[in-house]
Amino acid sequence: MARINEHYAKLPASYLFPEIGRRVRAYQASHPDAKVIRLGIGDVTEPLAPSITAAMHAAVDEMASRPTFRGYGPEQGYDFLVEAIRKHDYAARGVDLAADEIFVSDGSKCDSGNIQEIFAHGARIAVTDPVYPVYVDSNVMAGRTAAAGPDGRYPGLTYLVGNEANGFQPEPPAGGGEPIDVVYLCSPNNPTGTVATREQLARWVAWAKANDAIILFDAAYEAYISDPALPRSIYEIEGALDCALELRSFSKRAGFTGVRCAYMVVPKRVTGIGAGGARVSLNSLWARRHTTKFNGASYVVQRGAAAVYTPEGLAETAAQIAFYMENARMLREGLAASRFTVFGGVHAPYLWLRTPSGSSSWDFFDKLLADAQIVGTPGAGFGPAGEGYFRLSAFNSRENIEEAIGRLRRAFG
Ligand code: MLT
Repeated sequence: MARINEHYAKLPASYLFPEIGRRVRAYQASHPDAKVIRLGIGDVTEPLAPSITAAMHAAVDEMASRPTFRGYGPEQGYDFLVEAIRKHDYAARGVDLAADEIFVSDGSKCDSGNIQEIFAHGARIAVTDPVYPVYVDSNVMAGRTAAAGPDGRYPGLTYLVGNEANGFQPEPPAGGGEPIDVVYLCSPNNPTGTVATREQLARWVAWAKANDAIILFDAAYEAYISDPALPRSIYEIEGALDCALELRSFSKRAGFTGVRCAYMVVPKRVTGIGAGGARVSLNSLWARRHTTKFNGASYVVQRGAAAVYTPEGLAETAAQIAFYMENARMLREGLAASRFTVFGGVHAPYLWLRTPSGSSSWDFFDKLLADAQIVGTPGAGFGPAGEGYFRLSAFNSRENIEEAIGRLRRAFG
């Protein structure tokens, strides 16, 4: 008899976005004529940039010819992509990384879910609340928690609350609290759309170094930062190469949600404690894990990702980001005109609003769907501190964003 991993029983039956999809399908089935506008899951809507598709077409042609055909590629990524990442994403910002500190993958969702495997079962994990649910769910699956309590929190995880008072950017815990070995940070933040300043990240790095802790820094939305004073990489902060891993993605930066390509930086200087107390490089552990469980992102996809760094690719993807951020600006102003209190949406494609009249976030989800045929994401889906809030994504056509603003005005004044 195969006994199952009982920790899965601690999770809600479905992951957040499939659950939303299920509810929307049920609504659509009973309202077949409704034109539903989807501002829920943060999925891009603009087609791939021409320079990316041209590079992918050329790569497909290479695969169709015997002399240029390729089988398995290097598990950590082809040199042409790794070098482009080193040069454009890091050297250009004063950060010197070795090629073997970069691990190309098929997505940051997988990377952020998988990285916990290299830490001890007893590692003490902290998440911000609200939070991207993958960080929590993957640690629950790994058995690091008890069943969720009545407040929706999993004993065994430390929750650092982001709220209006701290601008949804929790500070590092003060001394004397629960010990923490690993903390997940995300900036620009999913779900709140807020962004950490250089000073805030510097406090996190100082805290991590003082407490021998590791920061898992999710920068999937860094391309949406337009203020040059704001850090796009945690490695812009002195000392971060000693204590932080960074996750980056082509999904939101270049429209790769359906193509799949991302990477994670694991600097060799970041270490944990092994059996017997010796320091162990996380880079060598992750290299072992990556080469064992992953055979590399496809050649065609990596050629497409490398095209993002060509002059044309940079210009085309910057224009797409500007397009989504104009959507965000319009939505923010439309929501404010309808008297919503709105956060985020300035350096991120997400808007975080307070639900009206203190309604619960799932009640507001139902009301918005019923009254305006708009889908968003209930804040409670991102953790207990998300209750009373709601996330709208700016990824959509201009026509749909304008239509959504009009519907909000009609439904909410
Ligand atoms: C989101 O809507 O939070 C994201 O699209 C989910 C993801 O990137 O996995």
